[in-house]
Amino acid sequence: MRHGVIIGTGSYTPPHVMTNDDLAGMVDTSDEWISSRTGIKERRISAGESTSDLAYEASLRALKVSGLSPEELDLIICATITPDYFMPSVACTVQDRLGAGNAAAFDLSAACTGFIYAMVTAEQFISTGMYNNVLVIGAETISRILDWDDRSTCVLFGDGAGAMILSAAEGPGHILGSVLTSDGGKQDYLTCPAVSLVNPYTGDSNAKCDPHIKMQGQEVFKYAIRAITDCIDRVLNKAGLSLQDIKYILPHQANKRIIEQAAKFSNSPFEKFYLNLEDYGNTSAASIGIALDEMIREGLLIRGDKIILVGFGGGLTSGAVLLEY
Ligand code: ACO
Repeated sequence: MRHGVIIGTGSYTPPHVMTNDDLAGMVDTSDEWISSRTGIKERRISAGESTSDLAYEASLRALKVSGLSPEELDLIICATITPDYFMPSVACTVQDRLGAGNAAAFDLSAACTGFIYAMVTAEQFISTGMYNNVLVIGAETISRILDWDDRSTCVLFGDGAGAMILSAAEGPGHILGSVLTSDGGKQDYLTCPAVSLVNPYTGDSNAKCDPHIKMQGQEVFKYAIRAITDCIDRVLNKAGLSLQDIKYILPHQANKRIIEQAAKFSNSPFEKFYLNLEDYGNTSAASIGIALDEMIREGLLIRGDKIILVGFGGGLTSGAVLLEY
């Protein structure tokens, strides 16, 4: 059976570093509070780079590793909640800049679970035989939708992009199981109204809408622990494997305490979980792509290793992919 195999990954984060001490100069917070409550020490913040700029750089790196030419790409999917525009999509902008003239391109919105949703979508196009080479991107400039006066959210996030190329192949090294979930009933826990819309016929407007992230932190915290634990369980069941078969678990990089609790509830050693949130904060749809690229470049994964990627986020959404690298 045809599957998607990872033939290249890449990532890019903007050069500007914002430390916890920098934030303590902006809002009433401290390095001690942020480090102890989240594990985050610093994050990268765009100094004018757009989401498509970050996505393009990450994609170039993934393409280089893959050895493919841009013309060989059939499809580009970009997961993002901070696109440059309502239209065109970030994926179309990246397609143009890469010169990937043969690819279809679209964006996908599943908040911090976006990279997982995009990987699973790519796998469907490959396994049905419709496409051979798919570029999956997770890219965000979350700094654009943060309320920089709200200490309860602005300390948590960062900007960046991760990319992956999945290519059709037979045999080992592919997605062995996947799970996607959504719970729209919990949508109010994590929101960001996009624009003030005025209906030209009725004059109705939501002009008071605040285009910043609002979060009920403790509710999201509880949801995230349950979501990670459930998704790991379900994806292992789907693949007919147990935790002992898994070398690493790569969770969405939101908060070290969430991951510690999830490790406890899933009876998995904390050391199995890969973390880089100390350096980047929560980069939403980009976090899993950035971390996977880092793991591969550091030689932590060798072909045949099994890894679970697991995400959660606005929607609320969650999901996991069990991958043989
Ligand atoms: N610095 C100092 N004090 C702060 C800060 C800050 N940055 N933020 C909040 N506080 C204060 C609060 O005002 C409160 O003070 P009070 O007791 O005087 O009222 C106190 O700290 C405790 O606040 P809590 O909200 O109860 O703190 P908590 O321990 O729950 O930690 C946190 C907050 C880190 C946000 C936690 O709830 C969390 O991690 N939630 C999940 C967040 C998350 O993962 N979001 C993203 C997931 S989805 C996605 O990625 C888009």
